[in-house]
Amino acid sequence: MAAVTGLGVFVALAWPIWAQRAAAPLASAAKPGAVAPALPPAPLPPALFPLRGETGRPLRMFALPSLNALFDGAKPGAEPPPWYHPSGVKTQATQAERLVAQLAKPWRTRAQLQRLAQEPPPPGPVRFQVVGDAEPGRFFFSRWLFNVPGVFERQLAAAQARGGDFVIQLGDMVSRGVALQYRGLLGLLERVGAARPYLTVLGNHDRRSPHGASDSRLYQALFGPPSYWFERGNVRFVVVDSSAGRMTPLQLRWLDRALDTERTKIVFTHMPPIQLRAWTGGVAGFAVGAREFAELVERRGVSRVYVGHVHALDTVVHRGVRYVLSGGGGSPLFPSAVKRRFHHTLEVEVDGAQVRETVHPLLGRPFAL
Ligand SMILES: [Fe+2]
Repeated sequence: MAAVTGLGVFVALAWPIWAQRAAAPLASAAKPGAVAPALPPAPLPPALFPLRGETGRPLRMFALPSLNALFDGAKPGAEPPPWYHPSGVKTQATQAERLVAQLAKPWRTRAQLQRLAQEPPPPGPVRFQVVGDAEPGRFFFSRWLFNVPGVFERQLAAAQARGGDFVIQLGDMVSRGVALQYRGLLGLLERVGAARPYLTVLGNHDRRSPHGASDSRLYQALFGPPSYWFERGNVRFVVVDSSAGRMTPLQLRWLDRALDTERTKIVFTHMPPIQLRAWTGGVAGFAVGAREFAELVERRGVSRVYVGHVHALDTVVHRGVRYVLSGGGGSPLFPSAVKRRFHHTLEVEVDGAQVRETVHPLLGRPFAL
């Protein structure tokens, strides 16, 4: 009885603190803000709530279905409603997180897409650059054994110099999605510059903890929703989040709507579906929703799915859809089952329904994939 009473007193005392934490916004920068008229269509919010472990460890008790889930029923291109919050659960940010979110302002997906929308597409094929995994390794010994410092910066600069419509990074920009590491990344991006709009895909390392219970709220405060789509010429590009090692029914429904177009369709996601065993070994890919994802991109007639996560280069046709693995953006070339392991980036041209990739190795001449 005494224990029950004690618990009641504890809850009564603690509740105002919890409620305050839950109500405080992550950062003013995390608010989606108004969509500029020059940006048709608006990037969509993520369709990923509720997800077990999506909130940070200290707030797991608040991992309740978010109001965001209601917005998942909205049409592609619709504006987020006023109550929409990209993290799903409002939490207090540290001073360092607020600062890095402010510094990231020019790099937000919305800002980069606005730049792109303001430029009329040049005549001819749609052209873009793909840069794969960049994080240097989470542990000292793996960095020491396998990492070559500076490769990502060199390759990103080369990709920016090649031009095209935009540059997209396939996820794992940092080893852990914490303020200090993102601060370093933003410094690198400032040094390289963004001659062309720079877009991101959320990787597992870009979450707070790459392999454990984790959240992506800092990434979202910096860059925005991890699932979004946009169009260029006759191509619809769809970025969908697989960073938590799964694709939920909500995400798949969102993806289905995002792929509902007659245009040529290109998908970017960080992890390959796990059934591509030649790459994943049955481990290094997203498992939940993988079969449904493969069926969906087949049914929607997707021309390409670009993935990273495995630090290598390869292609495979699965259920009639061509998947391209490009994980050589600068991360350590860990031993894996995939033979072609070298640092590289891709240049892609989409001409009608035709998609052509040119591989740009860090060392050596470019070649057609
Ligand atoms: Fe990864």
